[in-house]
Amino acid sequence: MEKYCIHGGKRLTGTIDISGAKNAAVAILPATVLASDVFVIENVPRISDIFAMVQILEELGATCKFLNKSTLEIDTRNVQSRPLSSALTKCLRASYYFAGSLLGRFNYASVATPGGCVFGGTRPMDMHIKGFMELGAMVPPANVPLDPEKIEAKADKLIGSYIYFDKVSVGATINVMLAAVRARGITVIENAAREPHIVDLANFLNLMGCKVMGAGTNSIRIEGRQDLHGTNYSIIPDQIEAGTYMVAAAATKGDVLIRNVIPKHLDTITVKLRECGVTVEEFDDSVRICAEGRLKPCNLKTLPHPGFPTDMQPQFTTLLAMCDGMSVVTESVWDNRFNYLNQLRRMKAEVEIEGKHAIVHGVEKLYGASVIANDLRAGAAMVIAGLCAEGETCIGDIYHIDRGYEDIVEKLQACGADICRKEFPDEE
Ligand code: UD1
Repeated sequence: MEKYCIHGGKRLTGTIDISGAKNAAVAILPATVLASDVFVIENVPRISDIFAMVQILEELGATCKFLNKSTLEIDTRNVQSRPLSSALTKCLRASYYFAGSLLGRFNYASVATPGGCVFGGTRPMDMHIKGFMELGAMVPPANVPLDPEKIEAKADKLIGSYIYFDKVSVGATINVMLAAVRARGITVIENAAREPHIVDLANFLNLMGCKVMGAGTNSIRIEGRQDLHGTNYSIIPDQIEAGTYMVAAAATKGDVLIRNVIPKHLDTITVKLRECGVTVEEFDDSVRICAEGRLKPCNLKTLPHPGFPTDMQPQFTTLLAMCDGMSVVTESVWDNRFNYLNQLRRMKAEVEIEGKHAIVHGVEKLYGASVIANDLRAGAAMVIAGLCAEGETCIGDIYHIDRGYEDIVEKLQACGADICRKEFPDEE
Protein backbone atom coordinates (compact mmCIF):
# COMPACT_ATOMS: atom_id res chain seq x y z
CA MET A 1 0.00 0.00 0.00
CA GLU A 2 1.35 3.41 -0.94
CA LYS A 3 1.25 6.47 1.31
CA TYR A 4 2.40 10.04 1.10
CA CYS A 5 4.91 10.88 3.82
CA ILE A 6 5.48 14.53 4.58
CA HIS A 7 7.88 16.26 6.94
CA GLY A 8 6.08 19.54 7.57
CA GLY A 9 7.32 23.01 8.25
CA LYS A 10 8.87 23.94 4.89
CA ARG A 11 7.66 27.15 3.18
CA LEU A 12 6.55 26.50 -0.40
CA THR A 13 8.45 28.76 -2.79
CA GLY A 14 8.68 28.59 -6.57
CA THR A 15 6.36 27.91 -9.48
CA ILE A 16 3.59 25.38 -10.04
CA ASP A 17 1.98 24.68 -13.43
CA ILE A 18 -1.67 23.70 -13.28
CA SER A 19 -2.97 20.78 -15.36
CA GLY A 20 -6.18 20.56 -17.36
CA ALA A 21 -9.44 20.53 -15.40
CA LYS A 22 -10.49 17.08 -14.24
CA ASN A 23 -14.18 17.92 -14.09
CA ALA A 24 -14.15 19.37 -17.62
CA ALA A 25 -12.14 16.45 -19.02
CA VAL A 26 -14.44 13.83 -17.51
CA ALA A 27 -17.40 15.47 -19.29
CA ILE A 28 -15.63 16.11 -22.60
CA LEU A 29 -14.25 12.58 -23.04
CA PRO A 30 -17.73 10.96 -22.88
CA ALA A 31 -19.02 13.69 -25.23
CA THR A 32 -16.77 12.35 -28.00
CA VAL A 33 -19.07 9.35 -28.52
CA LEU A 34 -21.77 11.76 -29.76
CA ALA A 35 -20.05 11.74 -33.19
CA SER A 36 -18.35 9.07 -35.26
CA ASP A 37 -15.01 10.76 -35.96
CA VAL A 38 -11.51 11.58 -34.67
CA PHE A 39 -10.85 14.06 -31.84
CA VAL A 40 -7.62 15.56 -30.53
CA ILE A 41 -7.97 16.80 -26.95
CA GLU A 42 -5.14 18.82 -25.41
CA ASN A 43 -4.39 19.70 -21.78
CA VAL A 44 -5.78 16.37 -20.57
CA PRO A 45 -4.62 15.74 -16.98
CA ARG A 46 -2.79 12.45 -16.40
CA ILE A 47 -4.81 11.28 -13.42
CA SER A 48 -6.49 7.99 -12.64
CA ASP A 49 -10.01 9.31 -13.38
CA ILE A 50 -8.90 10.01 -16.95
CA PHE A 51 -7.28 6.59 -17.35
CA ALA A 52 -10.60 5.06 -16.21
CA MET A 53 -12.48 7.18 -18.78
CA VAL A 54 -10.10 6.02 -21.51
CA GLN A 55 -10.74 2.41 -20.51
CA ILE A 56 -14.50 2.94 -20.78
CA LEU A 57 -14.11 4.57 -24.21
CA GLU A 58 -12.03 1.60 -25.36
CA GLU A 59 -14.63 -0.84 -24.00
CA LEU A 60 -17.20 0.94 -26.19
CA GLY A 61 -14.97 0.47 -29.26
CA ALA A 62 -13.03 3.76 -29.38
CA THR A 63 -9.28 3.89 -30.02
CA CYS A 64 -7.42 6.22 -27.65
CA LYS A 65 -3.79 7.25 -27.91
CA PHE A 66 -1.75 9.82 -25.97
CA LEU A 67 0.17 11.77 -28.65
CA ASN A 68 2.26 13.39 -25.91
CA LYS A 69 1.96 13.79 -22.12
CA SER A 70 -1.32 15.71 -22.23
CA THR A 71 -2.71 15.34 -25.77
CA LEU A 72 -5.18 12.53 -26.29
CA GLU A 73 -6.43 11.35 -29.66
CA ILE A 74 -9.79 9.58 -29.59
CA ASP A 75 -11.24 7.78 -32.61
CA THR A 76 -14.92 7.01 -32.04
CA ARG A 77 -15.69 5.55 -35.48
CA ASN A 78 -16.24 2.03 -34.12
CA VAL A 79 -18.12 2.95 -30.95
CA GLN A 80 -21.27 1.02 -30.05
CA SER A 81 -23.62 1.38 -27.09
CA ARG A 82 -22.52 -1.58 -24.97
CA PRO A 83 -23.70 -2.02 -21.36
CA LEU A 84 -21.04 -0.65 -19.00
CA SER A 85 -20.42 -2.89 -16.00
CA SER A 86 -19.66 -1.68 -12.49
CA ALA A 87 -16.06 -2.92 -12.89
CA LEU A 88 -15.64 -0.02 -15.31
CA THR A 89 -17.95 2.61 -13.85
CA LYS A 90 -17.15 2.29 -10.13
CA CYS A 91 -13.76 4.03 -10.44
CA LEU A 92 -15.27 7.48 -10.81
CA ARG A 93 -18.48 9.43 -10.51
CA ALA A 94 -18.38 10.90 -13.97
CA SER A 95 -18.73 7.50 -15.64
CA TYR A 96 -22.45 8.31 -15.54
CA TYR A 97 -21.93 10.91 -18.28
CA PHE A 98 -21.87 7.99 -20.70
CA ALA A 99 -25.58 7.59 -19.90
CA GLY A 100 -26.26 11.00 -21.47
CA SER A 101 -23.88 10.71 -24.40
CA LEU A 102 -24.78 7.11 -25.37
CA LEU A 103 -28.48 7.91 -25.05
CA GLY A 104 -27.94 10.97 -27.28
CA ARG A 105 -26.04 9.06 -29.96
CA PHE A 106 -27.72 5.62 -29.90
CA ASN A 107 -31.04 6.22 -28.10
CA TYR A 108 -29.88 3.54 -25.65
CA ALA A 109 -27.58 3.51 -22.64
CA SER A 110 -26.98 1.00 -19.87
CA VAL A 111 -24.49 2.27 -17.32
CA ALA A 112 -23.81 0.63 -13.95
CA THR A 113 -24.04 2.89 -10.89
CA PRO A 114 -20.96 5.13 -10.70
CA GLY A 115 -18.31 5.34 -7.98
CA GLY A 116 -16.40 8.45 -6.92
CA CYS A 117 -16.38 10.38 -3.65
CA VAL A 118 -19.23 9.58 -1.29
CA PHE A 119 -18.93 12.38 1.32
CA GLY A 120 -20.52 10.13 3.97
CA GLY A 121 -23.99 10.35 2.39
CA THR A 122 -25.80 9.43 -0.80
CA ARG A 123 -25.36 11.02 -4.21
CA PRO A 124 -28.78 10.78 -5.83
CA MET A 125 -29.38 10.77 -9.59
CA ASP A 126 -33.09 11.57 -9.62
CA MET A 127 -32.60 14.81 -11.56
CA HIS A 128 -30.50 13.11 -14.26
CA ILE A 129 -33.28 10.54 -14.69
CA LYS A 130 -35.98 13.21 -14.67
CA GLY A 131 -34.07 15.10 -17.40
CA PHE A 132 -33.74 11.98 -19.61
CA MET A 133 -37.45 11.26 -19.19
CA GLU A 134 -38.36 14.83 -20.15
CA LEU A 135 -36.45 14.23 -23.40
CA GLY A 136 -38.65 11.20 -24.09
CA ALA A 137 -36.45 8.40 -22.76
CA MET A 138 -37.81 5.51 -20.74
CA VAL A 139 -35.82 5.08 -17.54
CA PRO A 140 -36.06 2.25 -16.69
CA PRO A 141 -37.78 0.56 -19.63
CA ALA A 142 -41.56 0.36 -19.08
CA ASN A 143 -42.74 -2.18 -16.42
CA VAL A 144 -39.28 -2.74 -14.97
CA PRO A 145 -38.75 -1.44 -11.42
CA LEU A 146 -35.95 1.12 -11.00
CA ASP A 147 -32.67 -0.79 -10.76
CA PRO A 148 -30.38 0.53 -8.01
CA GLU A 149 -27.40 -1.10 -9.75
CA LYS A 150 -27.60 0.71 -13.09
CA ILE A 151 -29.25 3.40 -15.20
CA GLU A 152 -30.82 1.96 -18.31
CA ALA A 153 -32.37 4.49 -20.64
CA LYS A 154 -33.86 4.06 -24.08
CA ALA A 155 -35.95 6.09 -26.47
CA ASP A 156 -37.50 5.73 -29.91
CA LYS A 157 -36.26 9.24 -30.46
CA LEU A 158 -35.26 12.06 -28.16
CA ILE A 159 -37.35 15.21 -28.38
CA GLY A 160 -36.22 18.62 -27.12
CA SER A 161 -38.04 19.77 -23.99
CA TYR A 162 -38.24 22.40 -21.25
CA ILE A 163 -36.49 21.02 -18.17
CA TYR A 164 -36.52 22.72 -14.81
CA PHE A 165 -34.21 21.44 -12.07
CA ASP A 166 -35.40 21.92 -8.48
CA LYS A 167 -31.79 22.06 -7.34
CA VAL A 168 -28.61 23.18 -9.08
CA SER A 169 -26.76 20.05 -10.17
CA VAL A 170 -23.54 19.97 -12.17
CA GLY A 171 -23.97 16.31 -13.09
CA ALA A 172 -27.63 16.53 -14.12
CA THR A 173 -26.95 19.66 -16.21
CA ILE A 174 -24.08 17.93 -18.03
CA ASN A 175 -25.90 14.63 -18.54
CA VAL A 176 -28.97 16.35 -19.99
CA MET A 177 -26.79 18.56 -22.22
CA LEU A 178 -25.09 15.43 -23.58
CA ALA A 179 -28.38 13.80 -24.52
CA ALA A 180 -30.18 16.97 -25.68
CA VAL A 181 -27.58 18.01 -28.26
CA ARG A 182 -28.83 15.12 -30.44
CA ALA A 183 -32.54 15.43 -29.60
CA ARG A 184 -34.95 16.74 -32.20
CA GLY A 185 -35.92 20.35 -31.50
CA ILE A 186 -35.07 22.75 -28.73
CA THR A 187 -34.24 21.93 -25.12
CA VAL A 188 -34.11 24.55 -22.38
CA ILE A 189 -32.47 23.66 -19.06
CA GLU A 190 -33.63 26.06 -16.35
CA ASN A 191 -31.79 26.43 -13.05
CA ALA A 192 -28.75 24.94 -14.76
CA ALA A 193 -25.35 24.74 -13.06
CA ARG A 194 -22.90 27.48 -14.12
CA GLU A 195 -19.49 25.97 -13.27
CA PRO A 196 -16.55 26.75 -15.59
CA HIS A 197 -16.55 23.12 -16.76
CA ILE A 198 -20.17 23.47 -17.97
CA VAL A 199 -18.99 26.35 -20.20
CA ASP A 200 -15.98 24.31 -21.33
CA LEU A 201 -18.21 21.38 -22.29
CA ALA A 202 -20.56 23.73 -24.19
CA ASN A 203 -17.61 25.23 -26.10
CA PHE A 204 -16.43 21.73 -27.01
CA LEU A 205 -19.92 20.64 -28.11
CA ASN A 206 -20.28 23.76 -30.26
CA LEU A 207 -17.00 22.96 -32.02
CA MET A 208 -18.47 19.50 -32.77
CA GLY A 209 -21.35 21.20 -34.57
CA CYS A 210 -23.85 21.40 -31.68
CA LYS A 211 -25.76 24.57 -30.89
CA VAL A 212 -25.57 25.22 -27.15
CA MET A 213 -26.30 28.74 -25.92
CA GLY A 214 -26.33 30.31 -22.46
CA ALA A 215 -23.80 28.00 -20.77
CA GLY A 216 -22.46 29.88 -17.75
CA THR A 217 -25.95 31.30 -17.03
CA ASN A 218 -28.76 29.45 -15.27
CA SER A 219 -30.67 28.94 -18.53
CA ILE A 220 -29.10 26.79 -21.25
CA ARG A 221 -30.77 26.52 -24.66
CA ILE A 222 -29.84 23.67 -26.96
CA GLU A 223 -30.88 23.16 -30.59
CA GLY A 224 -30.53 19.45 -31.33
CA ARG A 225 -28.33 18.48 -34.28
CA GLN A 226 -27.62 15.16 -36.00
CA ASP A 227 -24.55 16.04 -38.11
CA LEU A 228 -21.86 16.19 -35.42
CA HIS A 229 -18.15 15.73 -36.15
CA GLY A 230 -14.72 15.48 -34.51
CA THR A 231 -12.67 18.48 -33.45
CA ASN A 232 -9.47 19.63 -31.75
CA TYR A 233 -9.87 21.14 -28.31
CA SER A 234 -7.81 22.30 -25.35
CA ILE A 235 -9.31 21.79 -21.88
CA ILE A 236 -9.41 24.71 -19.40
CA PRO A 237 -7.02 24.74 -16.43
CA ASP A 238 -8.19 23.03 -13.25
CA GLN A 239 -9.80 25.57 -10.91
CA ILE A 240 -9.69 23.22 -7.91
CA GLU A 241 -6.12 22.06 -8.44
CA ALA A 242 -5.08 25.73 -8.66
CA GLY A 243 -7.12 26.60 -5.56
CA THR A 244 -5.53 23.72 -3.65
CA TYR A 245 -2.00 24.99 -4.36
CA MET A 246 -3.06 28.57 -3.58
CA VAL A 247 -4.19 27.42 -0.15
CA ALA A 248 -1.08 25.24 0.32
CA ALA A 249 1.13 28.25 -0.47
CA ALA A 250 -0.79 30.42 2.00
CA ALA A 251 -0.85 27.76 4.72
CA THR A 252 2.93 27.23 4.57
CA LYS A 253 3.51 31.05 4.56
CA GLY A 254 5.07 30.58 1.15
CA ASP A 255 5.57 32.56 -2.03
CA VAL A 256 4.36 30.63 -5.08
CA LEU A 257 3.57 31.60 -8.66
CA ILE A 258 0.77 29.39 -9.94
CA ARG A 259 0.74 29.31 -13.74
CA ASN A 260 -1.69 28.20 -16.45
CA VAL A 261 -4.82 29.36 -14.62
CA ILE A 262 -7.84 31.51 -15.48
CA PRO A 263 -7.74 33.99 -12.56
CA LYS A 264 -11.47 34.78 -12.99
CA HIS A 265 -12.29 31.13 -12.11
CA LEU A 266 -10.39 31.60 -8.85
CA ASP A 267 -12.20 34.79 -7.73
CA THR A 268 -13.97 33.40 -4.67
CA ILE A 269 -10.85 31.59 -3.47
CA THR A 270 -8.81 34.76 -3.99
CA VAL A 271 -11.33 36.87 -2.05
CA LYS A 272 -11.34 34.48 0.88
CA LEU A 273 -7.54 34.22 0.97
CA ARG A 274 -7.34 38.02 1.01
CA GLU A 275 -9.82 38.10 3.90
CA CYS A 276 -7.35 35.90 5.78
CA GLY A 277 -4.54 38.39 5.09
CA VAL A 278 -2.88 36.56 2.18
CA THR A 279 -1.45 38.60 -0.70
CA VAL A 280 -2.81 37.41 -4.03
CA GLU A 281 -1.49 39.05 -7.19
CA GLU A 282 -3.34 38.30 -10.42
CA PHE A 283 -1.70 38.25 -13.86
CA ASP A 284 -3.13 37.23 -17.26
CA ASP A 285 -2.79 33.49 -16.75
CA SER A 286 -1.13 33.15 -13.36
CA VAL A 287 -1.56 34.14 -9.72
CA ARG A 288 1.11 34.73 -7.09
CA ILE A 289 0.39 33.83 -3.48
CA CYS A 290 2.47 35.28 -0.61
CA ALA A 291 1.73 34.94 3.06
CA GLU A 292 3.54 35.63 6.29
CA GLY A 293 2.76 35.62 9.99
CA ARG A 294 -0.40 34.24 11.58
CA LEU A 295 -3.39 34.54 9.24
CA LYS A 296 -6.83 35.87 10.17
CA PRO A 297 -9.92 33.66 10.49
CA CYS A 298 -12.92 34.09 8.18
CA ASN A 299 -16.34 32.57 7.67
CA LEU A 300 -17.03 30.52 4.59
CA LYS A 301 -20.13 29.12 2.90
CA THR A 302 -20.06 26.73 -0.04
CA LEU A 303 -22.50 27.36 -2.88
CA PRO A 304 -22.91 26.38 -6.53
CA HIS A 305 -20.80 28.51 -8.90
CA PRO A 306 -20.18 31.46 -8.74
CA GLY A 307 -20.22 30.80 -4.97
CA PHE A 308 -17.31 29.31 -3.04
CA PRO A 309 -16.73 25.78 -4.44
CA THR A 310 -17.54 22.88 -2.15
CA ASP A 311 -14.54 21.08 -3.68
CA MET A 312 -12.29 23.67 -1.97
CA GLN A 313 -14.00 23.41 1.42
CA PRO A 314 -11.74 20.76 3.05
CA GLN A 315 -8.54 22.50 1.90
CA PHE A 316 -9.70 25.94 3.05
CA THR A 317 -11.01 24.62 6.37
CA THR A 318 -7.54 23.16 6.97
CA LEU A 319 -6.03 26.62 6.45
CA LEU A 320 -8.61 28.12 8.85
CA ALA A 321 -7.67 25.46 11.43
CA MET A 322 -4.33 27.28 11.75
CA CYS A 323 -5.65 30.88 11.68
CA ASP A 324 -5.69 33.19 14.67
CA GLY A 325 -9.29 32.89 15.92
CA MET A 326 -12.62 31.25 15.21
CA SER A 327 -14.11 30.61 11.75
CA VAL A 328 -17.45 29.11 10.81
CA VAL A 329 -17.56 26.99 7.67
CA THR A 330 -21.00 26.21 6.24
CA GLU A 331 -21.33 23.34 3.76
CA SER A 332 -24.51 23.90 1.80
CA VAL A 333 -23.94 21.74 -1.29
CA TRP A 334 -23.39 18.30 0.26
CA ASP A 335 -25.21 16.95 3.33
CA ASN A 336 -22.16 15.42 4.91
CA ARG A 337 -18.79 16.68 3.79
CA PHE A 338 -17.05 17.04 7.14
CA ASN A 339 -15.91 13.40 7.59
CA TYR A 340 -12.28 14.39 7.10
CA LEU A 341 -12.36 16.56 10.24
CA ASN A 342 -11.78 13.40 12.30
CA GLN A 343 -8.45 13.06 10.50
CA LEU A 344 -7.62 16.71 11.03
CA ARG A 345 -8.35 16.30 14.74
CA ARG A 346 -5.70 13.57 14.88
CA MET A 347 -3.30 16.36 13.95
CA LYS A 348 -4.61 18.42 16.90
CA ALA A 349 -6.96 20.69 14.99
CA GLU A 350 -9.81 22.03 17.15
CA VAL A 351 -12.99 21.67 15.18
CA GLU A 352 -16.60 20.86 16.05
CA ILE A 353 -19.46 20.00 13.73
CA GLU A 354 -22.89 21.53 14.27
CA GLY A 355 -25.16 20.31 11.48
CA LYS A 356 -24.10 22.05 8.26
CA HIS A 357 -21.46 24.08 10.11
CA ALA A 358 -17.92 23.38 11.20
CA ILE A 359 -16.79 25.61 14.04
CA VAL A 360 -13.05 25.98 13.66
CA HIS A 361 -10.91 27.27 16.53
CA GLY A 362 -7.57 28.09 14.96
CA VAL A 363 -4.55 26.53 16.68
CA GLU A 364 -0.95 27.74 16.44
CA LYS A 365 0.31 24.46 15.14
CA LEU A 366 -0.80 21.12 13.74
CA TYR A 367 1.19 18.01 14.61
CA GLY A 368 2.17 15.19 12.26
CA ALA A 369 0.08 12.00 12.51
CA SER A 370 -0.94 8.94 10.59
CA VAL A 371 -4.11 9.84 8.68
CA ILE A 372 -6.10 8.74 5.63
CA ALA A 373 -7.53 10.49 2.61
CA ASN A 374 -11.30 10.02 3.09
CA ASP A 375 -11.93 11.20 -0.47
CA LEU A 376 -10.23 13.24 -3.18
CA ARG A 377 -10.43 16.76 -1.74
CA ALA A 378 -10.22 15.53 1.84
CA GLY A 379 -6.94 13.92 0.77
CA ALA A 380 -5.72 17.24 -0.61
CA ALA A 381 -6.60 18.81 2.75
CA MET A 382 -4.47 16.20 4.53
CA VAL A 383 -1.54 17.05 2.26
CA ILE A 384 -1.89 20.75 3.16
CA ALA A 385 -2.11 19.88 6.86
CA GLY A 386 0.97 17.65 6.56
CA LEU A 387 2.96 20.38 4.80
CA CYS A 388 2.35 22.69 7.79
CA ALA A 389 2.49 20.24 10.68
CA GLU A 390 5.38 19.72 13.05
CA GLY A 391 6.88 16.28 12.49
CA GLU A 392 5.91 13.53 10.06
CA THR A 393 2.49 12.97 8.53
CA CYS A 394 1.75 9.75 6.63
CA ILE A 395 -1.39 9.75 4.50
CA GLY A 396 -3.03 6.45 3.55
CA ASP A 397 -5.65 5.70 0.84
CA ILE A 398 -3.87 8.07 -1.53
CA TYR A 399 -5.59 6.49 -4.52
CA HIS A 400 -8.28 9.09 -3.82
CA ILE A 401 -5.74 11.90 -4.31
CA ASP A 402 -4.34 10.28 -7.47
CA ARG A 403 -7.83 10.51 -9.00
CA GLY A 404 -7.53 14.27 -9.30
CA TYR A 405 -4.00 15.64 -8.83
CA GLU A 406 -1.42 15.10 -11.57
CA ASP A 407 2.16 14.82 -10.25
CA ILE A 408 1.24 16.27 -6.86
CA VAL A 409 4.43 14.98 -5.22
CA GLU A 410 6.68 16.35 -7.95
CA LYS A 411 4.90 19.72 -8.07
CA LEU A 412 5.24 20.18 -4.30
CA GLN A 413 8.83 18.90 -4.17
CA ALA A 414 9.78 21.48 -6.83
CA CYS A 415 8.59 24.16 -4.38
CA GLY A 416 10.68 22.81 -1.53
CA ALA A 417 8.22 20.46 0.17
CA ASP A 418 9.57 17.36 1.91
CA ILE A 419 7.03 14.88 0.54
CA CYS A 420 7.42 11.46 -0.99
CA ARG A 421 5.38 8.45 -2.00
CA LYS A 422 6.36 5.37 0.03
CA GLU A 423 5.40 1.72 -0.15
CA PHE A 424 4.15 0.16 3.12
CA PRO A 425 3.11 -3.44 3.82
CA ASP A 426 -0.67 -3.88 3.43
CA GLU A 427 -2.56 -3.52 6.72
CA GLU A 428 -4.95 -6.25 7.83
C1 UD1 B 1 -19.91 17.65 -9.26
C2 UD1 B 1 -18.41 17.49 -9.08
C3 UD1 B 1 -18.10 17.40 -7.60
C4 UD1 B 1 -18.63 18.63 -6.86
C5 UD1 B 1 -20.12 18.83 -7.18
C6 UD1 B 1 -20.66 20.14 -6.63
C7 UD1 B 1 -17.78 16.33 -11.11
C8 UD1 B 1 -17.32 15.06 -11.73
N1 UD1 B 1 -18.00 16.28 -9.78
O1 UD1 B 1 -20.52 16.50 -8.68
O2 UD1 B 1 -16.69 17.32 -7.44
O3 UD1 B 1 -18.51 18.47 -5.47
O4 UD1 B 1 -20.32 18.85 -8.60
O5 UD1 B 1 -19.95 21.22 -7.13
O6 UD1 B 1 -17.91 17.34 -11.77
N2 UD1 B 1 -28.42 16.16 -6.35
C9 UD1 B 1 -29.69 15.64 -6.22
N3 UD1 B 1 -30.18 14.89 -7.26
C10 UD1 B 1 -29.47 14.65 -8.40
C11 UD1 B 1 -28.17 15.20 -8.51
C12 UD1 B 1 -27.66 15.95 -7.47
O7 UD1 B 1 -30.35 15.84 -5.21
O8 UD1 B 1 -29.99 13.98 -9.31
C13 UD1 B 1 -27.87 16.97 -5.24
C14 UD1 B 1 -26.63 16.34 -4.59
O9 UD1 B 1 -26.98 15.41 -3.58
C15 UD1 B 1 -25.91 17.56 -4.04
C16 UD1 B 1 -26.25 18.68 -5.04
O10 UD1 B 1 -27.38 18.20 -5.78
O11 UD1 B 1 -26.45 17.92 -2.79
C17 UD1 B 1 -25.16 19.02 -6.01
O12 UD1 B 1 -24.74 17.85 -6.67
P1 UD1 B 1 -24.16 17.90 -8.17
O13 UD1 B 1 -23.91 19.32 -8.57
O14 UD1 B 1 -25.01 17.05 -9.02
O15 UD1 B 1 -22.77 17.18 -7.98
P2 UD1 B 1 -22.05 16.19 -8.99
O16 UD1 B 1 -22.33 16.58 -10.38
O17 UD1 B 1 -22.29 14.80 -8.55
